[in-house]
Amino acid sequence: MSLFRRGKKQSSKHTLQEQNRRKEERKNLLSVSRDFFMQEAYKSLRTNVNFSLAGDLNRTMVISVTSALQGEGKSFTATNLAISYAQADQKVLLMDCDLRRPKIHTLLQLQNELGLSNVLMDLTLLPSAIVPSGISGLDVLTSGTVPPNPSELLDSSRMEQLLCQVQEQYDCVILDTPPVNMVTDSAVLASKVEGVLFVVRVGVSQRPAVLQAVDQLLYGRGKVLGFVLNGVDLSKPYYGYNRYGYGRYYGRYGGYGYRSAEQERPPSGGSVPPSP
Ligand SMILES: Nc1ncnc2c1ncn2[C@@H]1O[C@H](COP(=O)(O)OP(=O)(O)OP(=O)(O)O)[C@@H](O)[C@H]1O
Ligand SMILES: [Mg+2]
Repeated sequence: MSLFRRGKKQSSKHTLQEQNRRKEERKNLLSVSRDFFMQEAYKSLRTNVNFSLAGDLNRTMVISVTSALQGEGKSFTATNLAISYAQADQKVLLMDCDLRRPKIHTLLQLQNELGLSNVLMDLTLLPSAIVPSGISGLDVLTSGTVPPNPSELLDSSRMEQLLCQVQEQYDCVILDTPPVNMVTDSAVLASKVEGVLFVVRVGVSQRPAVLQAVDQLLYGRGKVLGFVLNGVDLSKPYYGYNRYGYGRYYGRYGGYGYRSAEQERPPSGGSVPPSP
């Protein structure tokens, strides 16, 4: 009995901690009242993405957001970028394509009973699965029930049909995806979207892992639009020049945070050299 009680207490404590953690996470979401530098960082990111996809500005933009490993800020970046496009009067769909560790529904406090995985089993569910986020201009397709075969579902012809259908309804479609180095899902999706935004987190991302992930995306026929440097501490002097949290990156893909696909692509037949 006492054991049972203790277990119950621990689980409610755990739930409370989880709730507090989620509340803290939501504080990182972009809103009109957010500080100026965060707003400007996302405006700048938006502009650079638009430049990278320069061409027909009237067509729907479909991009995915990924990174090498877990916890580098993919969901955070995808959600804030989607909010930023919605703030710019675009009609935006944010899709949670991380069918293994979905996050968008908790960030935006949405139900997740019906979502992408369910729609990939039955495309007629699409209209009822897309829900308003509560933010003007932003709709969401959550991940849905966790399936046993995420890679196969995402690599299916239904996924391609779904992307075609949503392109008819939105100006901008943003896909949150799992880490490239852990599962094949992101590489699979990279070939189905116009371009991939690659998140690198300050103090977390490691060069060999980033190179390996970019290599996988490129050889999977993905187009890397550029890098987002996430988590820049604006109080650090070496970021003083780049106060927008979107800046310098090191190494082979070096220079400034945003590089065109041509710059990223290794010379024909070449491979990424081993890291030092
Ligand atoms: N720039 C940032 N400032 C503050 N917190 C951040 C920042 N970027 C990410 N975080 C926090 O780090 C945690 C991980 O972020 P997020 O869930 O976006 O990563 P992820 O790459 O999607 O992880 P996963 O691989 O598990 O899907 C979250 O708690 C998020 O709020
Ligand atoms: Mg995530």
